[in-house]
Amino acid sequence: TDSLSIAVIGGDGIGPEVVAEGLKVLDAIGGSGGPKVSTTDYDLGAQRWHRTGETLPEGVVDELRQHDAILLGAIGDPSVPSGVLERGILLPLRFALDHYVNLRPAKLYPGVASPLAVDRVAPNGIDFVVVREGTEGPYVGNGGALRVGTPAEIATEVSVNTRYGVERVVRDAFARAQARPRKHLTLVHKHNVLTHAGHLWRRTVEEVGAEFPDVETAYQHVDAATIFLATDPGRFDVIVTDNLFGDIITDLAAAIAGGIGLAASGNINPDRTTPSMFEPVHGSAPDIAGQGKADPTATILSVGMLLAHLGHDAEASRVEAAVAADLAERGDTTRTTAQVGDATASRL
Ligand code: IPM
Ligand code: MN
Repeated sequence: TDSLSIAVIGGDGIGPEVVAEGLKVLDAIGGSGGPKVSTTDYDLGAQRWHRTGETLPEGVVDELRQHDAILLGAIGDPSVPSGVLERGILLPLRFALDHYVNLRPAKLYPGVASPLAVDRVAPNGIDFVVVREGTEGPYVGNGGALRVGTPAEIATEVSVNTRYGVERVVRDAFARAQARPRKHLTLVHKHNVLTHAGHLWRRTVEEVGAEFPDVETAYQHVDAATIFLATDPGRFDVIVTDNLFGDIITDLAAAIAGGIGLAASGNINPDRTTPSMFEPVHGSAPDIAGQGKADPTATILSVGMLLAHLGHDAEASRVEAAVAADLAERGDTTRTTAQVGDATASRL
């Protein structure tokens, strides 16, 4: 009786290829006792921009709102000037749908190689999640340029941090930390230099933390956090940070946990007033597009996050277990995009 309506944005480059495998897995879930899924494709990305000059037409956002969730492949193409699609599609979606939690787990699965000497630097494994703020910070486009092209040029990008925006993401991060066995939350910022925003984030963590007395908190400056991510990643459980720091450290987190091909994410509206959007952390990888080389695992894990967000926890666990089994079996063998999707789907 359960049926999910999913909006699908394949997007550019390898996006449509990896999304196709994610949908295979979603179908396999539906065929094995899980919720049935109906999908609607939305054609957004470089091709549409070249054809019509449109990025995200008004009506599309309204249609997207009608779905239970959105599955997105990747947006971006070298044939389009930098920023046009990012500022025209991806960020407006996150902002319009109020995806204030950008959830990015970093977990090193058995059998997966990390560039770190894991036995030495993380003998207890790597398993943390970054709660990246998704609607504020330097991403809001609050800036400008003066005297462009002259020696006196000035460019500003103002980071916007509101009490409302910081408090809601911090509260979400505390709740996630409380639900995990270690109950540990690290605020990552740079309050020694970014004193205004840093003060707001610190104070908010302190104040909201009073509601979660069983959660232990820590603080790291973002530069130091990159050292610990490389030398002692096991110390992290939940990290909460702003939009830009979160962007940067989640690429590092992906790299240490087996690579960007495995990194899943959810652009989440925890209040469920809008559909949340799930996407691999990686981009459109135009250099390997159309060759069946892209690893769809990040998208498949994102599908698992989608199911978890919609309350299908058992199905989400089944997807994660299927991926874990596939990763353990895969070893160093090279497989095509479809082979990974088929193998994972068939485990379900
Ligand atoms: C990501 C990407 C995006 C971001 C870009 C494509 C706008 O790097 O999802 O991490 O910076 O958020
Ligand atoms: Mn990024």
